[in-house]
Amino acid sequence: MIEQAPDPAARDTRLGRRAFLVRAAAGAFALILPIRLRAPEALGLPAAIGRAPRPFSRRLPIPKVLTGSDLTIRMREAALPVLSGPKTRMWTYGGSFPGPTIRRPAGETTRVRFVHDLGRKAGELTVHLHGGHNRSSEDGQPGGLTALQSRALYCDLSAGLSASESGNDLLIRPGRDRTYTYEQVEDGEPERASFQFYHDHRLENTARNIWRGLVGMWIVDDELDSSLPLPTGPRDIPLLLADRSFDKRNQLTNPFAAERRPPFDGVVGRHILVNGAVTPHHQVRAQRYRLRVLNASHFRAYDLHFTGGVRMVQIATESGLMPRPVERRRILLGPGERAELIVDFAGVRGTRVRLLSSRRRGKHDEPGSRTYAGPLMEFRVGRARQVDRTSIPPALRPLPRWVAEASAEPSHTWRFTVSSGFSPRWLVNGRTFDPAFAETTVELGETVTWELQNRTGVAHLIHLHHTDWYMLSRNGKKPPPWERCLKETFFLDPEDRVVIAGRMSDYVGKYVMHCHMLDHEDHGLMSQFEVVKPA
Ligand code: C2O
Ligand code: CU
Repeated sequence: MIEQAPDPAARDTRLGRRAFLVRAAAGAFALILPIRLRAPEALGLPAAIGRAPRPFSRRLPIPKVLTGSDLTIRMREAALPVLSGPKTRMWTYGGSFPGPTIRRPAGETTRVRFVHDLGRKAGELTVHLHGGHNRSSEDGQPGGLTALQSRALYCDLSAGLSASESGNDLLIRPGRDRTYTYEQVEDGEPERASFQFYHDHRLENTARNIWRGLVGMWIVDDELDSSLPLPTGPRDIPLLLADRSFDKRNQLTNPFAAERRPPFDGVVGRHILVNGAVTPHHQVRAQRYRLRVLNASHFRAYDLHFTGGVRMVQIATESGLMPRPVERRRILLGPGERAELIVDFAGVRGTRVRLLSSRRRGKHDEPGSRTYAGPLMEFRVGRARQVDRTSIPPALRPLPRWVAEASAEPSHTWRFTVSSGFSPRWLVNGRTFDPAFAETTVELGETVTWELQNRTGVAHLIHLHHTDWYMLSRNGKKPPPWERCLKETFFLDPEDRVVIAGRMSDYVGKYVMHCHMLDHEDHGLMSQFEVVKPA
């Protein structure tokens, strides 16, 4: 295999050569490339550098927090100081990257008006609240073909769809706006507190639109979560991990300009950004902190741990608090996954500790499961001894009642493959995405058990909209404690089989499920289920 040279210049030459090889090999020829050339760094990554600031010199940015019930967010271009030197022009929610963090109490309706001021070049846009339980019309449907996006390169859409069949009636056109209504209730109760995020979800352009900057965090609070003695205020920190590459003038590269066919279509960036800053630092006290970590990268996974022997206790997944806290040595997070951790800096007073990602232990080294190796950020811990009134309760949130009633037998299997031939695509049960087609239907009020099967040589992160899921088994075995809880995004290594159960409540209509590796999603690995009224 090609090893990464330690010297960055040499490394970039190699990346360039590998990127060239892959680009030259687009199409059927790519299929005969030796597997070792398919390292993620080679996939569509231009040999670009951009001037990174000295590691850990930047302060960790904390996005502005919006708490109102009626919000307006302008999607507009902004020039942001990401690297040293010239600013980077990005497409933003409200002028920052990440966009503002929306923080709202469960059970209270929130209306967000998104104004499209990015011009015709951005085409129509759509906003999805990832983790929310919302009406199908408010869910950020991908839509179909339009005058501004008149052909699909990867998805086989039914011909002659009306605006409501394609979902085009729900898109935001350039110069226009749309108000999304989020009720934040589930099954007649306020939604569970959780760490969510919002991002663009447009057909075949999601990867490009998010790469350019259209992503922001969203926190739902509820009574139970707020009643626990966990760290709050400045000791509750959301961390959005994302990688990007820049050209010599510090502008984002455009890996989406060239056609990149599956299975070689994972985009990775040269620099790792935390809340939009390259390897930043953050000043903390010698106390417990709650870190809400989101992997918002396109393709990269991270296997997280700390230096200095700082222990990580996971308290929540994408779907909020787990039944019990779980101490973790490493935390593997694929695109779309979140983990909330309690870390205690009391034992490392007056030192600097780093949050790192390392290569996964064991055999997994295939694209998508080959995790980033390097530091993400530094915590500078104060010297002063602190009183800490927080603690981690032994029990957090019980599982919902429907979990006990779920059948162990899947009623439907979602199978992920890649097609062969001259222009391969990702397939779900043999098809690419078609907004007019629902692969399966479920009745409102039903608890369903489904199987997810990865039949490809690449890892996938399967995310299902609409509800949270309980993992019944992973490869026929009982899942580890951090997956034996509610989740909505699932890491599937090659040949993995995962069985999950979920309950359909409140809303009928179509909902998508897809790989959260954003190129995979754009290149066919997306499908739909439809919730219907019971007969
Ligand atoms: Cu975060 Cu359908 O996605
Ligand atoms: Cu995938």
